Amino acid sequence: MPRIFSGIQPSGELHVGNYLGAVKNWVELQRLTPAVFCVVDYHAITAPYEPEVLRARRHEMALGLLAAGIDPDLATLFVQSDVPEHTELAWIFNTVTPLGELERQTQYKEKSARQESVVAGILNYPVLQAADILLYRADQVPVGEDQLQHLELSRVIARRWNAQFGEGFFPEPQGLLTPTRRIMGLDGQAKMSKSMGNTIGMLEAPADIWAKLRPAVTDPKRIKRTDPGTPEVCNIYHLHKAFSPEATVAHVAQQCSTAGWGCIDCKKVLAESIEVELVPIRGRAEALRAEPRRVTDTLASGASKARAIAQETMREVRDRMGFAPGPADVRGIG
Ligand code: AMP
Ligand code: TRP
Repeated sequence: MPRIFSGIQPSGELHVGNYLGAVKNWVELQRLTPAVFCVVDYHAITAPYEPEVLRARRHEMALGLLAAGIDPDLATLFVQSDVPEHTELAWIFNTVTPLGELERQTQYKEKSARQESVVAGILNYPVLQAADILLYRADQVPVGEDQLQHLELSRVIARRWNAQFGEGFFPEPQGLLTPTRRIMGLDGQAKMSKSMGNTIGMLEAPADIWAKLRPAVTDPKRIKRTDPGTPEVCNIYHLHKAFSPEATVAHVAQQCSTAGWGCIDCKKVLAESIEVELVPIRGRAEALRAEPRRVTDTLASGASKARAIAQETMREVRDRMGFAPGPADVRGIG
């Protein structure tokens, strides 16, 4: 059976791009195969942050994932910094990662172009990501399209380490994409992303979602209400394909291309479809907010399950690389 691992940064709200590109797929996959999901807080500190905000966001992200349907009886959900083997393996991987491969990463180039002084953590970010995945010897990684380059690097790292220390030990992880692998933001210009301010929050109130949807960009050539539209170039139509039933999607396309509906009519139907998907998630989130212990307890037991796997991997890794099979405390002498 394939082993699944994926991660998400606790860097603010869980938006519908995250949900459609990754998290919804996690919820389906957890029923089919062993799955480990991680709130990657060590990745989040590669950007400036406030410690108290990080603390709150870590909890909020875990709550959002549980509300979205991650089931701790099926999958392991935990926080990266609760399992110190992630950073241990990341250091080891740094010693087999070609610098040129890191410098080629699009995300590194984009982030470093935006900043005057770049911390090494931004460059090494995908090395930690490879450690996350390979610590669990996962072979499949459900993510959005933007992560494929990082996964390619994970394969390079696995191959390099295997060649030197143990052929076949680490699998070469593959990305698992959904049909909604790249959701555009409401500006219709850029990928939906917190940093672009073009998101719909997964837990956002209906009135707030409508306030964003109403002015959202549609087919740029459809200027007057009576102009027929071209659904394929309209971001709202793509969101319909993600949220609305097939029959509705067909109806939307027909109404748009014959100018039967205006864009507002179309957006109202989309808002209803979004509601159908998000109402149960919002309900579960409210219940979890009333019982924060359920979230912290889930993360605690997730961490101990994850750590057991991580320690088993590290015992082998350390042994094959010429170290003692575990740090002193794990060997019972600390
Ligand atoms: P992040 O918020 O960057 O930690 O992303 C968490 C997951 O959501 C990753 O698997 C991303 O690939 C995915 N994701 C983020 N934004 C989008 C988007 N606009 N469309 C599809 N997937 C996305
Ligand atoms: N880099 C991923 C993102 O920004 C988050 C991430 C960290 C991740 N470690 C991972 C995703 C391991 C998949 C597997 O979305």
